[in-house]
Amino acid sequence: MTKRKVVIAPSILSANYSKFGIECEALENAGADWIHVDVMDGHFVPNMTFGAGLCAAIRPHIKTVMDVHLMISPVDPFIKSFAQAGADRITVHVEAGDHAHRTLQEVQNQGVAAGIALNPSTPANSLRHLLDLVDLVCVMTVNPGFGGQDFITGQLEKIREVAEMIGDRPIHLQVDGGISHKTAPAAFEAGANVLVAGSAVYAAGEAGRKPDLRKNMETIRNALKLPPGRH
Ligand code: DX5
Ligand code: ZN
Repeated sequence: MTKRKVVIAPSILSANYSKFGIECEALENAGADWIHVDVMDGHFVPNMTFGAGLCAAIRPHIKTVMDVHLMISPVDPFIKSFAQAGADRITVHVEAGDHAHRTLQEVQNQGVAAGIALNPSTPANSLRHLLDLVDLVCVMTVNPGFGGQDFITGQLEKIREVAEMIGDRPIHLQVDGGISHKTAPAAFEAGANVLVAGSAVYAAGEAGRKPDLRKNMETIRNALKLPPGRH
């Protein structure tokens, strides 16, 4: 079981698209540890969002970590542009091409922390020969493409399997999709330490009031009942 600190990484997929820079600052002021940027191409996933240009635009507004999740295929031709745009971390999907090992080498060559993501139908074993190239494994707990979907509880077994494979290597175990105060404890118990959340962080307050970003992130964190040293 990882002893790594818990990271709350809100996704800007649920943010106000007319003011991404201000939104990133608001998330960090509200306690976000990382900013999760969901890049979608309308081909690998049935939705389109933003590209390296947005990452470059929000870079000056992020003091913590820009955690870029590339849901694109092909992915190799674009890695350099996201690294140059200022990504601190780039997570690619093992399903995005035929040569995940080479893709991860390219991310490392760009001097960026490399992560590998698995879609819900992809077995944990596909990581077997990639663990020496990454410092993050992302287990998708929804089918990628949209925020606001339900957590796929069947992925808890895969999270446990991945945690077992990681052992005591310095690798983050990230979960992404359907994470809220209701689902985060089970994902944490199964071995995750990086929790991506979009809709739960942007959930409206009572009577439709503006989302309280700090309260929503703390609700997730407090639900974990963390032992000392994991905060
Ligand atoms: C889905 C994205 C997730 C998503 C999370 O394809 O990778 O990061 O934005 O959104 P919620 O937390 O609303 O499921
Ligand atoms: Zn994501």
